[in-house]
Amino acid sequence: MKKRILTGITTTGTPHIGNYLGAIKPALELTKDFDESFFFLADYHAIIKNSNNNEIAESVKNVALAWLASGLDTNKSFFYRQSDVPEILELSWILNCVTAKGLMNRSHAYKAATALNTSDEDKGITMGLFSYPVLMAADILLFNATHVPVGADQIQHIEMTRDIAGRFNHQYKKTFELPEAIIQSSQKIIPGIDGRKMSKSYGNIIPLLSTENILKKSIAKIVTNSLEPGVPKDPTDCSVFSLYSCFASKDEIKDFNQEYKNGISWGDAKAKLFDVINAEVTPVRERYVSLSNDTDLINDYLSDGSKKVREIAKEMLDSVRHSIGISTIS
Ligand code: TRP
Repeated sequence: MKKRILTGITTTGTPHIGNYLGAIKPALELTKDFDESFFFLADYHAIIKNSNNNEIAESVKNVALAWLASGLDTNKSFFYRQSDVPEILELSWILNCVTAKGLMNRSHAYKAATALNTSDEDKGITMGLFSYPVLMAADILLFNATHVPVGADQIQHIEMTRDIAGRFNHQYKKTFELPEAIIQSSQKIIPGIDGRKMSKSYGNIIPLLSTENILKKSIAKIVTNSLEPGVPKDPTDCSVFSLYSCFASKDEIKDFNQEYKNGISWGDAKAKLFDVINAEVTPVRERYVSLSNDTDLINDYLSDGSKKVREIAKEMLDSVRHSIGISTIS
């Protein structure tokens, strides 16, 4: 059996250094160990939480650019847009019909949303939010992915996918593999400029696709203590040091540690941080700049990607429809 990884990237927000380190880079590295890789822009997931059409469109472009500029090779991986593959939505409906409502009631995302409500617990909750895990199951099961790289917050969704697949297999016939999660953010937390986890919702990001100047400015904003130059500094619990360790070699980290003990100034520490980040993102930025002027090429990559995956998708959907009794009259 083919080993297939598949992961979806919800197209909200601007890709940042945290996404690059925590999701993009590790996922691209995983492609070496698998027979086939599927990466897609989860734009139908994005509209669950965001109804601003301009923001969605902008984010689809930026996320596509971030993955392509970070080295995604469309000859080696399937790269597509969820909304270009209507078979996903068809399967999603079919899976809705084998999914227990009680399973969805237990979803952390749904429970977190209802917990904020007082008198009417379903206030502001759409069916999209409620059945979000079913769409995610369709994304995965349509291609019989064996492994799904995700952040720790998505583990429950993979468990639900297994549950839904098992029910379908049991109710009709064995059709779906039960996928396994590969947890990506189990390493360390990547701090943002205020020291909390880097996240769009905290407004503390260092953007991935920016000019050198903006990168420098974002790094300058990282919050530190106010110890003077010459005073020894503690590298633990220091965002500058943590970020540095995400990009530097072991030897560089050792030296940096020594410089903290020697009382490096925050200005110099940040200059060193800029150098390591910039060295890594410079090729990404260069590819980004050339690609962003060539939207036709991005669209071509995506339409080629969806053409390729739709062949696989159609075959799977035919077999699913047949299993459930939706086929030509005989
Ligand atoms: N829900 C995932 C997230 O927010 C994104 C996603 C959508 C996904 N469909 C997927 C991830 C299928 C893995 C597989 O991160």
